[in-house]
Amino acid sequence: MAREKNGKNEHWESNLGVVLAVAGSAVGLGNFLRFPGQVATYGGGAFMIPYFISMLLVAIPIAWSEWALGRRGGRDGYHSLPGIYRAAGNGKTFWAASGGLVALVPTGICMFYIFVEAWCLLYALQYLGGCLRPLGIEFSFFPTVDSGFKLGDSASYEAAFANFVGMNGDGSLFQNFFKSPVVLATFACAAANFTLVYCGIAKGIERFCKIATPLLLLCSALVILRVATLGNPTGVEGQSFVDGLGFMWNPSRPLLDESGAVVGQTSVWTALANPEVWLAATSHIFFSASLCVGAIATYASYVKPNKDIALSSLTAVSANGFCEVALGGLMTIPAAVMFLGVANSESFASTFTMGFIVLPNVFGLMPGGEFFGFFFFSLLFIAGITSSVSQAQPAVAWTKEALGLSRGASVALTAAVALTGTAIVCWYTKNAAALDAFDFWIATFMPFVVVFLQTALAAWVWGADKMTAELDRGAKTRVPRCFGFVIKYLTTPYLALVFAFWCFKNGSGRLAGVAQNPVELKIVLFLVATGAALIWLTIRASKRWNVEEEATRERDVKNETSDVSA
Ligand code: PFF
Repeated sequence: MAREKNGKNEHWESNLGVVLAVAGSAVGLGNFLRFPGQVATYGGGAFMIPYFISMLLVAIPIAWSEWALGRRGGRDGYHSLPGIYRAAGNGKTFWAASGGLVALVPTGICMFYIFVEAWCLLYALQYLGGCLRPLGIEFSFFPTVDSGFKLGDSASYEAAFANFVGMNGDGSLFQNFFKSPVVLATFACAAANFTLVYCGIAKGIERFCKIATPLLLLCSALVILRVATLGNPTGVEGQSFVDGLGFMWNPSRPLLDESGAVVGQTSVWTALANPEVWLAATSHIFFSASLCVGAIATYASYVKPNKDIALSSLTAVSANGFCEVALGGLMTIPAAVMFLGVANSESFASTFTMGFIVLPNVFGLMPGGEFFGFFFFSLLFIAGITSSVSQAQPAVAWTKEALGLSRGASVALTAAVALTGTAIVCWYTKNAAALDAFDFWIATFMPFVVVFLQTALAAWVWGADKMTAELDRGAKTRVPRCFGFVIKYLTTPYLALVFAFWCFKNGSGRLAGVAQNPVELKIVLFLVATGAALIWLTIRASKRWNVEEEATRERDVKNETSDVSA
């Protein structure tokens, strides 16, 4: 019988609600900024081959296993990752402790994600200022054309962005705290996130996602319509919308010599022979579909036991793929090629350069750019919020269950820890060193650690049969019977191969980087200390849960015996 560990049992109000919340978690900055950059870097259409293979071999099976694990824990009344892991791991403390470690990942991502969310909010407001100017309303955070800022000049946008996010020096965002919009906006974003989480699963997150999804689709439709109807705005050959799509999607690209003349075509096979493409596609899938970061398992623990999770999982993965490929893929890179040309394509590769330097430059040149810039950054901001609430919820569930706190206290404690990390990210802004370190260790490296722990637990310890039976419970269509085999003998070896390649290629370099870079070292130590505290407190909680469960079992037996004798 389900017994909520602390407080009353929370559930999603509807199936649609949980799908929108999980899709909302998945659809985020990764879809609209990171994905196009990865496609552009790794050979356009050639990247889509490992991308779709990773989708089939990694995203779908791992998502199913994560939903099954989550709901298994929820059936026992657990919503925290240690509780969920422990429920599937036969009550073993080792699995509870592993869940404690996993809880670090979404919280760590939240620490830097809300900082970037704040940039999106401010960029959206900046464009709103432009839209409102004809009405005589004036506000702007950025340099204006009168102060030497040049439209169409990448260097101007780069300088404005660097100044805006404090890239010129550590602590620069705090020098004038109340005048620095980024720090204030980061606080505002954190407040919005934690208020939604405080309002609860159904009344906060679900309701918000039901409003946010149509808004997000509307904003993307408007931006895509604009980009697709521009034709060839600069009149330069090779810079039409179709050329932009070609750059994004063609599996082979023209090879240019130094003078810019076409001397051949790149080969798809050469692109696919590069193991880095496979690594990039796989790690992108983790980040983009919010997999192996604990968010989905936590959300799934709030699904009622008789609901269809097999279909919900597939719908959420497909919705994420659609937003990424069909929406994200149609907007950013085609627009950038149309205004700036393929010659500038190196700058499309970095998520932040693309989002906050290249695109503002493009909106500056585009007819009606102020409006479309406003819609685009509002879209990013909305997508960001639905993602970051899912990053905050696992820690809130953890503090509630492991420390026995009330909802208010658990939200306050989670906010305090998350904001400590965010303050570090906001302080060490020189060359975005902290952001980069958080992004790498928490959002790129840790999901690989989690995927092995999670799959070992779900497919071997709990067992493929029980996991499949959990997915079948309440499902209108059963998952393919080969699912257990696929996750054990295809997904896991594939991931092991990709991870081994990463360790071989980048592992030692990255570790040496930690030793040499004091900011990265501090951040790694902060994360290790937080992870160690989480594991220690989880082990204590797990022992307490053992005692509580034993007492409940004894009480149940006593009640049954007295029922029989009566
Ligand atoms: N999937 C989100 C994106 O594409 O931006 C990022 C994310 C959300 C990562 C939720 C982790 C998470 F728990």
